[in-house]
Parts: sequence; C-alpha cells; structure tokens
Amino acid sequence: MVNFGCLKKSDIKGFPNERLQDWYDHVARELPWRESKDPYRIWLSEIILQQTRVDQGLPYYERFVAAFPTVLGLASASEDAVMKLWEGLGYYSRARNLHFTAKYVARELNGKFPKTHEGLLALKGVGPYTAAAIGSIAFELPVAAVDGNVYRVLARYFGIETSIDETSTKREIAELSHAILNKNRPGDHNQSVMELGATVCLPKNPNCDSCPLKDSCVARRLEVQDKLPIRTKKVKVRDRFFYYSVWMVGEEVAISRRGEGDIWQGLYEFPLKESESRLSEAKIIDSLGVSSGQNVLLVSEEFKHILSHQRIFGRFVVLKLTEKPSEDFTWISKKELRRFAFPRLVNRFLERSDLVIKAEVSNI
Ligand code: ADE
Repeated sequence: MVNFGCLKKSDIKGFPNERLQDWYDHVARELPWRESKDPYRIWLSEIILQQTRVDQGLPYYERFVAAFPTVLGLASASEDAVMKLWEGLGYYSRARNLHFTAKYVARELNGKFPKTHEGLLALKGVGPYTAAAIGSIAFELPVAAVDGNVYRVLARYFGIETSIDETSTKREIAELSHAILNKNRPGDHNQSVMELGATVCLPKNPNCDSCPLKDSCVARRLEVQDKLPIRTKKVKVRDRFFYYSVWMVGEEVAISRRGEGDIWQGLYEFPLKESESRLSEAKIIDSLGVSSGQNVLLVSEEFKHILSHQRIFGRFVVLKLTEKPSEDFTWISKKELRRFAFPRLVNRFLERSDLVIKAEVSNI
C-alpha cells in the first residue's frame, strides 16, 4: 500500500452534489439515449457501453436502434444478423447475451423490461453496474452505478489509498457511491459521475481545472491525481499465433463459425491452425499441409490484435485449390464474404488484401 501521509476522507455530507448536477446539466454531451426513458434503448446503450467508449459505441447504438426500434424486433432477429451489427465492437458474448435477453423479455416478460433492481439483475448480461444504470436512468431507482470510471473518480475525490483491485476497497467505494447518490435525480447523478470519469477525471492528465468537484477533491489538494487510484494486480497477457488458410476453389471460399469456450464465439473465420509460438513463413506453409499442387497466392504480413488478456498475432495464407478439401467447412461465394461477421483481425486482413486478392482472383 502506498501511503500519502495525511489523507483524510472528505465529509460525505459535504459532497458538492448540486455543483455536479449543475455541471452535468450545462456541459454533458448530448447523447441519443439521454433523450429517452425507454428501458429498451437505455439497456441497449448500457450493454454497448460496457467496456466501450461513447464515441466508439455511438454508431453501433444508432445502427441497432435503426434496425430494431423495439425489443420485439431484436428478439426476432437471427443471431448472425445481431453478430453482424455488433461486428468490430469486441467482447462478443455481450452480443449473444443481448440477443438472449431480448428474446427472454419478448417471450417471458411480454416485451416489458423489469422495473426493479433485482428484476434487472436477473437478466443475462446485466450485472450490478448495468442494472443500477438502467434502473436509475429509466425508472429513477435510487441505486448507485459503480464501474471502473467511478472507482477512479471517487478514489481520487476521497483520497483512497488502498488498491481498487481489493474487494474491500471496491466495497468501500460502492458504499461511498450510495452515500453520495442524489436520491432526487439518481439517473442524472449516475450519468454525471460517468460523464466526469469519461471527459474530465481521465486516467492520464485529468482536466482538474474544469472539474466541478475540484474544490474538495483530496487527490487534487495533495497533487496525487496521477497516483490514484492504486492498482496492484498485474494482468497476465497470453500470446497466441493464428495461421489462417484462405482456401479458394473457383469463386468459392471456405469459412467456419467459431464455437464455444474461446474468444470470438459465433463469429466467422477462415480455417485456422493455432501455434504456441511464432512460425516462419516456410513453417506456416508446412503446418497448413499445403501440397505442391496447390497454388499459394499470398502469405500476408502479421496482424496484431490486442485483447484484455491476450495478444493475437495472425497471418493469412491465400491458396488456390483445384478441389475442396474433405473437411467440414462452409463454402460461400467470395461476394458473400461481407455478409458474415468476422473478428476485426480478419476484417483488417480482408481490407488490406482486397486489392491483392482482387488482382489475383477477381472480385472478393
Ligand atoms: N457509460 C456507460 N453508461 C453511460 C451513459 N449512460 N452515458 C455515458 N457514458 C456511459
């Protein structure tokens, strides 16, 4: 534990709620889900915004609302259509849970979202933070929403010097969040703290001069903003090496759907061989079992994709075959490729190699 000396918790009663709300009323971004009290839209925005920044999530929200204006529409969509709309957002289990919950609400709850915290918590893909956000914004339930941004804002404001990786610190911050919650406007209160974390109380170089909490913020007073919150857990990152073969027979190409128990479940990809270590170009071709009669059109550069606990390094070998290998893949026409949802790593290859593949094989 780092000791800053005489850190004292500010008086909870002195928390400048009015100033925070005033700041939110005047300065907060205009976001489409803030114009609505429709629990479907708020739920959709909150699921999209789990682990996604607003600027990145906004176009996805708009596409979803345009395609499915109500929960009933989303419930009757195919899983592939949902995955396609989600393509590129990452954490694909969120999309599967979104679809599952839409079907559940449509079929079991008559198309109506639960109006209690417990009811919202029981929905798949909705944890304590998301339930609090939806409940407070859509139904004014007096429950504080506490996520990573809120830990940072409150750890700084109250000068919390224990690690936010510890359960006891998380509990302490959750209690503080509930204690300062503006019970008259819980939805706006929760959104104002989120807004502060996203636009002012940034992880690096916080913009303290424009912060409505600046006069009573412990971290600012002690000039330890860059030291708080304290983190102690190191994330273990695993490297994985993906070698894809892009088999082409005439106008057709082989793809497969990723199964359960690993990243990117439900997305499509090309036939994959994974290796524990990085392979040379000769080894890649060797490992894919390419016989001399097969025509290697391209071995791509390496594409790197970073996830929270994994780094994926992918390369693609484009092969022209005279007949389809016996394995069980889905063969589609090259023109249909864009209809399927692929991981971003695969899409980056497709975008980059479009010209090469077009020149060699015509019209992907
Ligand atoms: N992040 C999560 N929920 C949010 C919301 N409602 N507004 C802005 N950022 C958010």
